[in-house]
Amino acid sequence: MLSFDDDLGVKSAPSLGMPPATGYVPASPVADVARPATPATGRRIKAEDKRVINGGTDVNQLVPFKYNWAWEKYISACANHWMPQEINMTRDIALWKDPNGLTEDERRLIKRNLGFFVTADSLAANNIVLGTYRHISAPECRQYLLRQAFEEAIHTHAYQYIVESLDLDEGEVFNAYHEVSSIRDKDEFLIPFIDTLTDPAFKTGTPVNDQKLLKSLIVFSCLMEGLFFYVGFAQILALGRQNKMTGAAEQYMYILRDESMHCNFGIDLVNQIKLENPHLWTSEFRDEIQDLFKKAVELEYRYAEDTMPRGVLGLNAPMFKEYLRFVANRRCQQIGIDPLFPGATNPFPWMSEMVDLKKERNFFETRVIEYQTGGALSWD
Ligand SMILES: [Fe+2]
Ligand SMILES: [Fe+2]
Repeated sequence: MLSFDDDLGVKSAPSLGMPPATGYVPASPVADVARPATPATGRRIKAEDKRVINGGTDVNQLVPFKYNWAWEKYISACANHWMPQEINMTRDIALWKDPNGLTEDERRLIKRNLGFFVTADSLAANNIVLGTYRHISAPECRQYLLRQAFEEAIHTHAYQYIVESLDLDEGEVFNAYHEVSSIRDKDEFLIPFIDTLTDPAFKTGTPVNDQKLLKSLIVFSCLMEGLFFYVGFAQILALGRQNKMTGAAEQYMYILRDESMHCNFGIDLVNQIKLENPHLWTSEFRDEIQDLFKKAVELEYRYAEDTMPRGVLGLNAPMFKEYLRFVANRRCQQIGIDPLFPGATNPFPWMSEMVDLKKERNFFETRVIEYQTGGALSWD
């Protein structure tokens, strides 16, 4: 039986965040514990006392709100709810089975594309649940992270559903992140940053560790969700624009919409941490971040070359070089870092329209979709 007198912060990673017994003085107000710094009998929470990291207010009390941007994103994300099996895959299946339906290059692109994504969203989900969540002490942000974690599960479900629908070799697709070097290299770039946050011994509360957390958050939002997904999204959406694999493309459109919100939430989180902890944003730190951005652009470009050794669908790897530079500049700008590739332009302006997709829009006309959350219950 769990006693709330136990030192939960030391013995167990996830925080219950319960108010400590009166008179208890926490060893340090670290965010993974995120316990209230004041005794249970103390004063009530004030919004202005909340902090995104290393906060001392009760994480179980969502209100009073301080971080409205996080709460609003939670509400929008719930309004955008969708499920993979709602999308009709019949035309994709017929096209995939037709020996003349797709070129060999198109098939390679689809398999390599899924090879990255089938495991990427599990990495993202584990990073949130086992890492990021416990280090964040603002309940509004935790609320969004809970929704985001479920969306990552939906995305993994969507990729699995495409693999199953097309009857692809599961072993080949799900092992691609071990066996295909352009995919493995992207994941190996990310894994140290996941390991930092999921290490049970890692605690925020020192400038060095707070910078480690901030770096991991930037890598995930700006480089994983904000860059490493974009070659893959553009490829499948380009197929859809040519009326090929329209079911898969529709799934990717909904995923892109979710991911663009994940990316924007992560960026808001980073900027809020900067605001509350300006001492972390040193010039050395910014240089380190720029180096990570350069490395990520290189890795994603290598993935583009590997998935498109020749031109396919009117796309080719050099077009993606420019696109990745354009996206990287945008991410730099969003977190207040000088753009790395001045003058880069967007060769795929149609991608921006995809990001702004409204939920009721039926872009590829596979079916009419109108999501209803909380369908009517009958008590008869
Ligand atoms: Fe995802
Ligand atoms: Fe995501």
